[in-house]
Amino acid sequence: MKKILDLMEQELRQAFEACGYEAKFAKVVLSNRPDLCEYQCNGAMAAAKAYKKKPIDIATAVVEKLTGAGADASGAQAGGADASGAQTGGADAASMQSGSAHPVFSEAVAVMPGFINLKVSGQFLAEYMVRMAAADKLGLEAPEKPETVIVDYGGANVAKPLHVGHLRAAIIGESIKRMGRFLGHRTIGDVHLGDWGLQMGLIIEELRDRKPGLVYFDESFTGEFPAEAPFTISELEEIYPAASAKSKTDEAFKERAHQATLKLQKGYAPFRAIWQHIMSVSVEDLKKNYSNLNVEFDLWKGESDAEPYIADMIQMLVDKGLAYESQGALVVDVAEETDSKEIPPCLIRKSDGASLYATSDLATIVEREQDFHPDRYIYVVDKRQGMHFEQVFRVAKKAGIVKQDTPMIFLGFGTMNGKDGKPFKTREGGVMRLETLIAEINEAVYARIMEDEERTVSEEEARRTAGIVGLAALKYGDLSNQAVKDYVFDIERFTAFSGNTGPYILYTIVRIKSILNKYRENGGIVSEDALEKNILPAANDSEKALMLLISRYNEVLESGFAETAPHKICQYIYELSNAFNSFYHETKILTEPDEARKDSFIGLITLAKRVLETCIGLLGIEAPDRM
Ligand code: ARG
Repeated sequence: MKKILDLMEQELRQAFEACGYEAKFAKVVLSNRPDLCEYQCNGAMAAAKAYKKKPIDIATAVVEKLTGAGADASGAQAGGADASGAQTGGADAASMQSGSAHPVFSEAVAVMPGFINLKVSGQFLAEYMVRMAAADKLGLEAPEKPETVIVDYGGANVAKPLHVGHLRAAIIGESIKRMGRFLGHRTIGDVHLGDWGLQMGLIIEELRDRKPGLVYFDESFTGEFPAEAPFTISELEEIYPAASAKSKTDEAFKERAHQATLKLQKGYAPFRAIWQHIMSVSVEDLKKNYSNLNVEFDLWKGESDAEPYIADMIQMLVDKGLAYESQGALVVDVAEETDSKEIPPCLIRKSDGASLYATSDLATIVEREQDFHPDRYIYVVDKRQGMHFEQVFRVAKKAGIVKQDTPMIFLGFGTMNGKDGKPFKTREGGVMRLETLIAEINEAVYARIMEDEERTVSEEEARRTAGIVGLAALKYGDLSNQAVKDYVFDIERFTAFSGNTGPYILYTIVRIKSILNKYRENGGIVSEDALEKNILPAANDSEKALMLLISRYNEVLESGFAETAPHKICQYIYELSNAFNSFYHETKILTEPDEARKDSFIGLITLAKRVLETCIGLLGIEAPDRM
């Protein structure tokens, strides 16, 4: 379905052209004066410069064309067309009379200094609702050219427990992936594990110190390595921090770990075997954790998967004359003349031959090009890694690994802070585990549900519901901020049932579900999508406001993905929820005596529910049946 903005613009374009002005001036935007109009066109202002005329004259002429068209269609005289109020600066230069039914607008007014204020026809809007309800994906159009999109997010480091630092990557990335996929792009989410770094050497050497008798450390061992891992996940989670702490005070240990890492990366079989164990134990645990967050990856690849591509890639960079030696290391210059800040050369190989973070990211791109030929890359990573990605992207383009015009998007996110404004910590000052954080937020939601005097759910159901709502509180609390910004993790605020929060959105959906249930209990018959209910032109302002918000759905989804901005979806469903709740408070839905009108209400709120549910699905959130 065409976006409602485009449909309006189409009308304006015709009117501009009919008046002898270029159609490019006919852009329609959401009104910034909702008290005066619903949409507006400011094109007469720009056209005035191009045609050396007064903006109000252009606006008035365009409006006359529009209203005239309405008159033609209905055979009536356009009432406002001859009004001359514009000259005196009046706000009523030309407006449609209610009898002159323009197919799209109920009102078009030229106002000083040259704006065109627009209101949408109630009939047109109601028909748009009906068409949305019946359309696949509620009228979202398939992209002209579906893209293959890689979303690199998650980025957990193997053998280290997931902590809140990885939370944002998971939440934001999951949402971007879902948006891309729903829009009709072939979207591939890759967790890109940190599975090839120093932490592996640290674990290997710590293991050697603890269990020197293991066959992996017996250099004369030639048999097959055991299938069973020499540690459990809880041991592993204890081994890494211990090893990491030791490496800070024990230089010799650190050097051993470094050597072990190099040996692993060169393929030393016993260490590869330990690495396999670390991987299987850790990945199983990570999968559980991510799945608790409702986060699912298509690919469980990691830095290690890039290893086979590194040698050839480095050779290619050298052959192309891009990589050169500098103080024993291999680097690629990426600075450009237009840079406003210094972009240092990208380090490809250290003097001891070790690969770096950039090396594995570049080799991963080589692999992705080979496997998927992506049309777009989106990396959802802490914004402090911005420089790293700038360098990597530049090398990838310079070397022709990625086509010049392929967008490589770095969606860098800010830090989640505690109420003290510092990066979020436990009360004891440690790094908070994700599980603990989720448990805390669920507890807070549970308490809120239980303290509700009108509570209808059992304790058991409250527990289950708290799990769903808690996750929504957490995710929405994150996604509703522009990703790049830091934000304060505030359990009180995130779990509130009113305001711009996840629970508020869910509460709104639950409210619609409960109205529909009551309707059914009273003998009303309505299907899941209520397609059998005709939606009539709005009966009052709050109903029209609700319809107007619903009609923006496809535009919000498209721009939300194009701008990799889940917060736009949050903003939209917050406004939509507000519009629904105002409508609900002002309208007696179930006691409406006129059956056709009541059907229309039921049809509309069902559509509102479907839009809300679709949108929260894109945020990785779901709604309970009651709360
Ligand atoms: N493992 C990294 C970290 O914890 C994040 C990985 C991000 N993705 C990437 N392609 N580098 O910082």
